[in-house]
Amino acid sequence: MAALPAKMQAVLLRQGGYSADAIPASEVRAVDRWLEQAEIDLPRPGPGQVLIKVIASMVNPSDLAFIQGGYGQPRVAGAPAGFEGVGTVVDGRGFLARRLRGQRVSFVVGPQGSGAWAEYALADAATVIRLRRDLRDEDAAALIVNPLTAAAMVDLVPEGGAFIASGAASQLGKLMAPLARERGKRMIGLVRRDAPAESLRALGATAVLNETSENFAAELAETLKAERPTVFLDCVAGSISARVFKAMGKDSRWVIYGKLTPEPPEILEPGTLIFMRKKIEGFWLVTWLAQTGLLRKLRTIKQVQARFADGRWHTDISARVPLRQVVSDLPKALQQCDGKVMITVQ
Ligand SMILES: NC(=O)c1ccc[n+]([C@@H]2O[C@H](COP(=O)([O-])OP(=O)(O)OC[C@H]3O[C@@H](n4cnc5c(N)ncnc54)[C@H](OP(=O)(O)O)[C@@H]3O)[C@@H](O)[C@H]2O)c1
Repeated sequence: MAALPAKMQAVLLRQGGYSADAIPASEVRAVDRWLEQAEIDLPRPGPGQVLIKVIASMVNPSDLAFIQGGYGQPRVAGAPAGFEGVGTVVDGRGFLARRLRGQRVSFVVGPQGSGAWAEYALADAATVIRLRRDLRDEDAAALIVNPLTAAAMVDLVPEGGAFIASGAASQLGKLMAPLARERGKRMIGLVRRDAPAESLRALGATAVLNETSENFAAELAETLKAERPTVFLDCVAGSISARVFKAMGKDSRWVIYGKLTPEPPEILEPGTLIFMRKKIEGFWLVTWLAQTGLLRKLRTIKQVQARFADGRWHTDISARVPLRQVVSDLPKALQQCDGKVMITVQ
């Protein structure tokens, strides 16, 4: 294996800690307040860690919230940004890390780590995923955050049941729609534009409603009556979410797993939590990974890789931004709908 360089290019967090000023991704017009491009020392793996030569990394909503200080974990100023990517293990400490040398892996980096928007990143050897050869780099770079969340959340829906998914034009929505159909569960997708509705239905959604349409309330009422969903998987968590939850029947669960709008959701009828046994809860993949048994996790990871390899799942890339152009080009790339922004590194 080639000798490692002493320095690397990286996109660094300029600020530490939290901030209350985070703005939605669609309104981000510049990122130089939060990010800077720099050459820094190559990070050194600690015990149980691997050093990964990054091939490509993703830009997820959690990254955008994190760089602005609006995620549930504090930033470390001067650390490379980026939670998720694909690369080749080039170094590491510990038995497992040594066994992974030379392998192409998908990886995630914790908020306190040396992130994926860099030429090299650090990850825990125990958490990286060794990849099938037939997996595209585009799918491998986005193999963990959204696919494992999709698999875990579709499992929350009872057998033969229906669920509502907000922000359904997202990559996560596009993963859940076919998975739900295959498992005999009915997905009602909420979107904010008409354009993605047809393709979401083709992917497997039973119904797709545009929450900005003037007929939304009537269409929602009709769909709830027909499908009787009991789970609301919500990544928007705003006033429309509150109205949807209010309209759902007894025993329904509002599972909030994202916050894409700054507007607050309200509990419109607290009495339904008492008298109709309705529940509000959160979902975080990190908690799911910590609480789920190893065998189930391995089985899920195997299924996730198989779904991408045989084409049942696909990562839609709307824009590719070279690592050295992230600070200048990311805002424009984020304006493009219907796909993920991928950072190309090698
Ligand atoms: N809790 C967890 O463990 C976990 C894990 C994975 C993902 N997530 C969350 O899942 C969500 C989806 O992630 P992703 O990577 O699949 O997203 P994505 O592909 O980047 O797409 C984001 C989607 O959100 C929609 N959206 C943005 N702001 C909105 C608003 N104010 N109202 C309604 N829709 C809005 C966009 O609609 P348009 O297409 O119309 O622009 C777009 O379709 C994010 O909130 C992410 O943080 C959470």
